Amino acid sequence: MAHESSLLDVKGLRIGFPGHGPDLIEVVKGIDFTIGTETVALVGESGSGKSLTARALMGLVARPGQVTAERLSLAGDDLLGLSARQWQQVRGTRLSLVLQDPRYSLNPVLKIGTQVEEALVLHTRLGRRERREKVLDMLDAVGLPDPASLYHSYPHELSGGMGQRVMLAAMLINDPRLLIADEPTSALDSGLRDQMLELILRLVRQRGMALLLISHDLPLVARYCDRALVMYRGRIIDRCRATELATSSNPYTRTLWSCQPSAQTYGQALPTLDRSLIEELS
Ligand SMILES: Nc1ncnc2c1ncn2[C@@H]1O[C@H](COP(=O)(O)OP(=O)(O)O)[C@@H](O)[C@H]1O
Ligand SMILES: [Mg+2]
Repeated sequence: MAHESSLLDVKGLRIGFPGHGPDLIEVVKGIDFTIGTETVALVGESGSGKSLTARALMGLVARPGQVTAERLSLAGDDLLGLSARQWQQVRGTRLSLVLQDPRYSLNPVLKIGTQVEEALVLHTRLGRRERREKVLDMLDAVGLPDPASLYHSYPHELSGGMGQRVMLAAMLINDPRLLIADEPTSALDSGLRDQMLELILRLVRQRGMALLLISHDLPLVARYCDRALVMYRGRIIDRCRATELATSSNPYTRTLWSCQPSAQTYGQALPTLDRSLIEELS
């Protein structure tokens, strides 16, 4: 359902890789969805195509991967056929991606301040002093203590939770319209997960942004997001309000929900997915 208010509009998105034969092996098989100013979760088993979808939205699917779509637009602007340089501009200013583990996203030899500031250096004309002010404000906004000294710290001096907050600061510094977060909390201890997600959602809502959250933690999604898209083998096979994940009429979604390991089910065998049902769906 493409409506004018949608920020991101995706239709017929396909992602394939060359196989042994002449045909591409499609791993994302023509998906449609829109995102307005809201928080949408993309859930599904490992390998269903969630991360590749996120990368395609950022123009980051590397060769030999091939991305095609009937429509891919952000706030009405066509993203199909952008040059590498144009994509870089879009990524630095209108779209941001937060990944799972800050250890792979932060550069170990650059100071925190330099890394958070980078998008401002590349994409704005702000002077040094204004940039520094903005960085300190942003570090404060993501709940990091003592921004002024943190500015001069290096990534190895931070805990994983703090590193993830620095990443978030770097991703939000240019006020993107859409934040894509791919399993942003799965490298964190369970106690920190809710905190981090609550922080992301608070900032996204305060700033009137949209969020696409990739997660396999369905109860977390149900607690925090507006809507959910359920992906299976490269297709979106269910869409519902996040609070309705547990009671969806789709058997795959219900099974995915009941497969969640939890304190209550710890040590018990997890239910298996009923493949015959799923084959009918896909
Ligand atoms: N560079 C690649 N070349 C070939 N296949 C890939 C590549 N990257 C991912 N895939 C395949 O695409 C499918 C979807 O991957 P991904 O989007 O990472 O899944 P998810 O994030 O849902 O776990 C997987 O089956 C994976 O093996
Ligand atoms: Mg993934």
